[in-house]
Amino acid sequence: MTFLDLLDDMRRRQEEILNGGGAEKLAKRRAKGLMTARDRLDALFDAATFQEMGGHVRHSARHFGMEKKDLPADGVVVGTGYVGGRMVSAFAQDFTVLGGSLGKMHAKKIVTLMEEAAKFGSPVVAFKDSAGARIQEGVDALSGYGCVFYQNVLLSGVVPQIAVVCGPCAGGASYSPALMDFIIMTRNNAYMFITGPEVIKAVTGKTVTLDEVGGADMHASVSGNVHFLAEDDADAIRIVQKLLSYLPDNNSEDPPHRPSADIALAGDDAIHALIPDDPQSPMDVRAIIARIVDTNEFLEVHRSFAENIIVGFGRVEGIVVGLVANQPEVRAGALDMDAADKAARFIRFCNCFNIPLVTLVDVPGFLPGVEQERGGIIRHGAKLLFAYASCTTPKVTVILRKAYGGSYLAMCSREMGADFVFAWPTAEIAVMGADGAVTVLYNKELKAAENPKAKARELAAAYRAEFASPYLAASHGYITDVIDPAFTRSTIALSLRKALSKREMRPPKKHGNIPL
Ligand code: HXC
Repeated sequence: MTFLDLLDDMRRRQEEILNGGGAEKLAKRRAKGLMTARDRLDALFDAATFQEMGGHVRHSARHFGMEKKDLPADGVVVGTGYVGGRMVSAFAQDFTVLGGSLGKMHAKKIVTLMEEAAKFGSPVVAFKDSAGARIQEGVDALSGYGCVFYQNVLLSGVVPQIAVVCGPCAGGASYSPALMDFIIMTRNNAYMFITGPEVIKAVTGKTVTLDEVGGADMHASVSGNVHFLAEDDADAIRIVQKLLSYLPDNNSEDPPHRPSADIALAGDDAIHALIPDDPQSPMDVRAIIARIVDTNEFLEVHRSFAENIIVGFGRVEGIVVGLVANQPEVRAGALDMDAADKAARFIRFCNCFNIPLVTLVDVPGFLPGVEQERGGIIRHGAKLLFAYASCTTPKVTVILRKAYGGSYLAMCSREMGADFVFAWPTAEIAVMGADGAVTVLYNKELKAAENPKAKARELAAAYRAEFASPYLAASHGYITDVIDPAFTRSTIALSLRKALSKREMRPPKKHGNIPL
């Protein structure tokens, strides 16, 4: 063959790879409003930065007539590119090629990409759109999944891993996204479950819909498996890009801080109007967060799940932070099992990747109830304590209003390792709320009182003033300072700047044993 023949042959092979499952199948997907695997990677990466790896890889299956089947790129497009000028490793399963099913070589491509990501220290983004284990490859397909899971675990805490579930993700296959740091799921085409409606019907006799057991809305609000709900592929990719803008490339780098030259120290009196006079009235902590973070700099994680606690990424005077805040508008901000799980996982992610934590506290306690006790609130709540105490990134806590009992500690008090603890003058820090406390402390007096309700109110007011005030905690050295809420943002900003150089050594160990 002449050189030109060889060049033609190379171009023909490239064309076949780019064509995936064929023009007809690709067009069908686009007609349904779905991106193809390559469309997804093109949309993710900065223009002309994608470099494909292993496009020529082919399957090694020899049963069920597979030896005659040519599967371009073996159903998964793999490579590296830049997102906002930073290198990212990504793969996208190609549903047009045998349903994006995973066989031995398909898995090998993913594993190689992940090994390289660990070597180069680049985040991994995975577009999951697959019919699962390739049936014709049997145990080789299962082994392939095993190898991917193993890499997911090896990379955990080394580089950020983001899964976009944008198609089927059934059976054990769903454990790969679950082992990654964040799952973004599209509303229009995706489902994820261990056992789907047919198996559930066969085993339990119960009829359920796909949405009920595996839809994006359910996972975002009920199971908590999904961190971000996306309308479609384009929306999911926008979320990936935004998320990456807060994360370092790997665990040995700092997050992409953009510190402002000077910290604006002026007070923000507008915050005063957001604070109710009555401590029992709910306060929307989202509005408080909006006054603390830089403009347009808050990306809420797990927005629809355990809404009694809010977690998300933001910047304060350019410094990337993870925010954790009780939301008194939902269940009075009380901590329950889901809230503890949600916050603990987020805190641990921030610690893995050197992201400072800002905690806003307004918590009446752990949610009372038989369901919570039997469900293991002790075990779940312990995760939150464990997460904060083991976190060595800078930690700034602001007690806005209530901080009672165990939940005072669980929301990162000084004892749990906070570097700075500030309190608003409205803070109430005590073993329990004033109303509960007076019924225990003054049981006999209240029974003997002419008007027990009035007496209880009077005693509660005295308790609040004397005992639950932030000045008592401050006088015992538990509070760095009591601050005017107008200076919350500047106080946090200044503290973060100072704490960025924090170095904290712990006794060496294999790993701690977080209550699971
Ligand atoms: C090989 C598969 C396949 C599979 C689908 N295909 N699933 N090939 N292995 N698991 C092929 C089809 O034969 C078809 O090939 C093409 O992919 C598209 O599939 P369709 O059925 O035509 O598509 P659609 O109607 O959209 O239905 C998609 C689907 C359905 C709902 C995903 O294909 C399905 O139920 N597949 C089986 C899913 C499954 O049970 N997977 C195993 C899960 S358990 P052609 O040549 O016609 O294009 C698992 C274990 C993992 O994954 C364990 C890890 C520990």
